[in-house]
Parts: sequence; structure tokens; C-alpha cells
Amino acid sequence: MENNILVEVKNLYKYFPITRGILIQRKIADIKAVDNVSFFIRRGETLGLVGESGSGKTTVGKCILRLHDVTYGQVVFDGVDLAHIPRGQLRAMRPKFQPIFQDPYSSLDPRHTVESIVGEPLVVHGIAKGKQLKDRVAELLTMVELEPEMAQRYPHMFSGGQRQRIGIARSLATNPSFLVCDEPVSALDVSIQAQIVNLLDNLQESMNLTMLFISHDLSLVRHISDRIAVMYLGKLVELASSNDLYNDPLHPYTRALISAVPIPDPAVERNRKRMLLPGEIPSPLNPPAGCRFHPRCPERLEICSKDVPKYQDRSGHFVACHLYQ
Ligand SMILES: Nc1ncnc2c1ncn2[C@@H]1O[C@H](COP(=O)(O)OP(=O)(O)O)[C@@H](O)[C@H]1O
Ligand SMILES: [Mg+2]
Repeated sequence: MENNILVEVKNLYKYFPITRGILIQRKIADIKAVDNVSFFIRRGETLGLVGESGSGKTTVGKCILRLHDVTYGQVVFDGVDLAHIPRGQLRAMRPKFQPIFQDPYSSLDPRHTVESIVGEPLVVHGIAKGKQLKDRVAELLTMVELEPEMAQRYPHMFSGGQRQRIGIARSLATNPSFLVCDEPVSALDVSIQAQIVNLLDNLQESMNLTMLFISHDLSLVRHISDRIAVMYLGKLVELASSNDLYNDPLHPYTRALISAVPIPDPAVERNRKRMLLPGEIPSPLNPPAGCRFHPRCPERLEICSKDVPKYQDRSGHFVACHLYQ
């Protein structure tokens, strides 16, 4: 195993039990949101995680941050299995890995000033107070390209894009080495999205951050990601460098996602054959047998409804598909 790996997810399972009964709760089924997912992220790397809504991306992110307890598997961060360490040790490590979520409005307390919002993690973890705290907040606001004078204002006085900048400043307060960005621009106007993605890209470089960048939008993660993982109904179906994934997508699901991305040139766009996916993503309560994608797959073989395809490493380009086994 390479020694420049910061995060390694090993055989991760997250099942949400469905229970019935009032006095005695009986488990009657499991929602298999994440089902045996493994990948790693190198230090300083940005890994994109894409897939339709409901594929399990947020659940993976929350398991890594231990905002969910895992059902089974490991989340090794800097040599420590976050999924299984005691709460006290986890709390001490929290400053090193931070989330950035989609909705910058609900995650910012409207009653608090920007200064107290951005500075809160520093207070909670006992990192700074007084003048030092004020100075650090000013520095963080500058890092996200806001004016330090904005520290005394309240969240409602800002636009959506500015609020997300405040959220990013807060996530950077403890000087983390790893960020999980879950749909960080999906709630923003398209015109603002690129600015925030560029900001994250610049911060990643200047702070040497490692990032997991989750999005349902493949075109958004393409430029910011070194490698991209594609998820479908709780499973990873493909993982490769951004270029390989775009230029040589192996899995029919990845090809369908790529073909859904519009091409900026209208002439090319008009004459292009689109591969549209029939139907919708099924429920993870009763996922299809064999390859979970087979009912929607235009290239399915007989074996696809019977056997689960193995997730195979083809010199760094991972794919789980019977077409290649
Ligand atoms: N707390 C929860 N309890 C029960 N089911 C959940 C919970 N969180 C997510 N799920 C289910 O797990 C599946 C994956 O959800 P999610 O991880 O949010 O997917 P994505 O982020 O890719 O849209 C969905 O079917 C969702 O309904
Ligand atoms: Mg999600």
C-alpha cells in the first residue's frame, strides 16, 4: 500500500434498519445505503464522488466524518480507524477533518454574528480566544475573499454565495487537513457555482488540503477532481483519474452520466446521440440481484442479473462490470 494515503475506506457498509412495533421494536428490513465500498484518497488529492440522488454519496461522507456510525468496515484517517475509536479520541481528532454542506443557510445560526459563527470551532476546541480569535476570524474571512469588516454582520445580510464562503471559513477555522464537501454549490445560482468551486480549488492548493467532493453533477467535479468515483445504489461501479473516466469510461452507468452532460458547442450538441437511462434508481430496500444496475443497463448480459460483478483494479482504473470480467 502506498504511504501517501490520508484516507482509506475499507469494506464500508451502512444499513439503516426499518423497525416496526410500538413497545418492542422489531427490525423488519434494512435500507442498504452503502454496501461494501472501498477506496482511498491520497494526501493533497481531490476525489470526486458522483452518482444520481439516492446512490449513497451523502451516507459515505457522513460515515467518513463519523456523523453516522458504520454498520461494518473501516475508515482509516492518518492511520487511525475513525469508525471505531472512542468518542474522546474522536473529539480530539475532529479539528483535522471537517464537512462543508450544501445549504449554507440552514447551517449558519441566524442569531449569531459571522465572527461568532466562524470562530465557534476555535472556541469549542479551545484553540483561540480574545484578540487572537478576532485576528484568526479576520484572516479566515480574507482567505474566502470576504472583507474582515463583515465579521460583525449577521447571516441574513449576505447572498447565498457569500453565506457559503462563511461556511467554508468556519470549516477551515481549525486548520483541517481533510474536507468532505457534500454538494457544496448545489443550492447556489449557476452563475455563482463556478466561483465557489474555484475558491475551493484554490484553497485546496494553498493549504494542501485533501478533499472528497460529492456531487450529483459530473461536469462540476471534472475539473476540480484528480480522480472520480462513480456510485450507484450503494456500490462503487467505477473509479479512475478524471481524464480516464471522461475519455475512456468503462461502466455503462458512467457512460450514461457522461452522455447526459451538455456540450457547450450547440452544433455538436444538436447532432449528438444521447444515451438516456430508462427508469429511475430503484430503492436500496430491495436492490436488484446481481449487478444493481442491470435493469437499466443497455449492455446487460445474462450473467448480470445473477452474479454481483467484482470490483476490479485494471492498473488504477477500477470497474465493477461483467463486460470486463
Ligand atoms: N437516516 C436515514 N435513514 C434511513 N434511510 C436513509 C437515511 N439516510 C439516507 N437514507 C437512504 O439511503 C439512500 C442513500 O441516501 P444518500 O446517501 O442521501 O444518497 P445521495 O447523497 O447519493 O443522494 C437513500 O435511499 C436514502 O433514502
Ligand atoms: Mg446527498
